[in-house]
Amino acid sequence: MRSIVISALLLSVVIGCSDSDPNATKLAKLQAEIDSLNKKIVQLQPGLGEVMSAIQMHHAKLWFSATNENWKLAAFEIGEIKEQLEAAEHLASTRPEIASLPMIYPPVDSITHTIDAHDLAGFRGAFEYLTYTCNKCHETNKFEFNVIAIPTALPVVNQIFKLSK
Ligand code: HEC
Repeated sequence: MRSIVISALLLSVVIGCSDSDPNATKLAKLQAEIDSLNKKIVQLQPGLGEVMSAIQMHHAKLWFSATNENWKLAAFEIGEIKEQLEAAEHLASTRPEIASLPMIYPPVDSITHTIDAHDLAGFRGAFEYLTYTCNKCHETNKFEFNVIAIPTALPVVNQIFKLSK
């Protein structure tokens, strides 16, 4: 029994080492294709700066939708922020800063609750907490010169945040 196992092992080693084996050549080719596709996927991913710019826009729209009590739009905007945070998570292999991303989840949760409850006073507090945490993460990652603030003017002029009732 043992000798059968050993000879099977030897045979597989011989097959594996043989350069002329068509399967081995095919496998090597496929592996090379996988490697090149993986490289392309990494190249096609948006950079962290792009993801952050998208978050910045949704952060501003979130403020104006909620303070105008357009709660459906506010729910949409916090959803978009969550999606972008997920996109940021996928960059963890190339960006060590992503290790500090989880600090943003408690304020995101707080905001979600205030939107669900249509609680404007609560929303204002939670939004301050969110903005503070954006900056906390920037500070942690030596990006303290990029300061996020509560928006003071509409981020776009072609969208209506206050719906007539
Ligand atoms: C991982 C922690 C982290 C969190 C949380 C975070 N950021 Fe960032 N942010 C970064 C890093 C790192 C950069 C630098 C990216 C780069 O090198 O391109 C950045 C860059 C930015 C930029 C600059 C993009 C540009 O091109 O001008 C903006 C704007 C920004 N963040 C907004 C925000 C907002 C708004 C929040 C909160 C809702 C937030 N960030 C939360 C880490 C974070």
